Amino acid sequence: MARVALVTGGSRGIGAAISQALKAQGCTVAATYAGNDAAAAAFTEQTGIKTYKWNAADYGASKAGIAQVEADLGPIDIVVANAGITRDAPFHKMTPEQWREVIDTNLTGVFNTIHPVWPGMRERKFGRIVVISSINGQKGQFGQVNYAATKAGDLGIVKSLAHEGARFGITANAVCPGYIATEMVMAVPEKVREAIIGQIPTGRLGEPEEIARCVAFLVADDAGFINGSTISANGAQFFA
Ligand code: CAA
Repeated sequence: MARVALVTGGSRGIGAAISQALKAQGCTVAATYAGNDAAAAAFTEQTGIKTYKWNAADYGASKAGIAQVEADLGPIDIVVANAGITRDAPFHKMTPEQWREVIDTNLTGVFNTIHPVWPGMRERKFGRIVVISSINGQKGQFGQVNYAATKAGDLGIVKSLAHEGARFGITANAVCPGYIATEMVMAVPEKVREAIIGQIPTGRLGEPEEIARCVAFLVADDAGFINGSTISANGAQFFA
């Protein structure tokens, strides 16, 4: 039977590449998105992957959305918590709202995405969880106190879930992308982006498919002994 995979933020950027890689691996994929209806519709038309709209920051909406996915596609075996936002500002300029928005989406959103599927995974004695963290959760980044806090938090989440899930056949791992050619990175001021590329020994931004490859590896049925680990894919920019 095809594994059912849920990818949050799965219709754009890194998430879209992950959704497609998991489909190519034989999974039935549900991709969520928060707001961009046109991009989601285009993605479904292009790939045949079903999209669902809910805000990962909202527990009730996540729980209801996940129930709908399971009613449509069957029990979820694979969760990729990928949805994330940035609200970059130097700390002295960062507002409590910028702090809260990023925490709510990037950190609480991970809880909201995994918590509703966890009991079913425990019962069925199988689960694959991947959280998309970031190089900036490992090394910190000027202008990203909020974002780096969430991405470092992701690493604590997967390590703890690995402890709790292991005896139920559930693995939880993180992928830490470096700077990848997505809209999020393109939104960084050009001068800053050029400086960042100068710090990447590979000499270029990464491609979304290079992150999807890590996820596809971690969620495979025969990856059951890889648990609580972190894969970095950053062009040698930083070694954790
Ligand atoms: N290191 C040290 N100093 C820096 C700096 C850096 N990286 N960046 C800026 N500064 C300094 C500036 O030189 C300036 O100093 P002076 O006042 O002495 O001239 C001071 O900090 C203020 O800089 P700005 O005027 O640029 O401040 P700002 O408020 O306009 O914007 C910023 C600051 C929004 C943080 C902007 O620098 C920025 O966008 N930086 C990029 C942050 C980043 O890498 N984000 C990653 C987004 S992609 C992502 O998150 C995906 C992923 O997982 C990798």
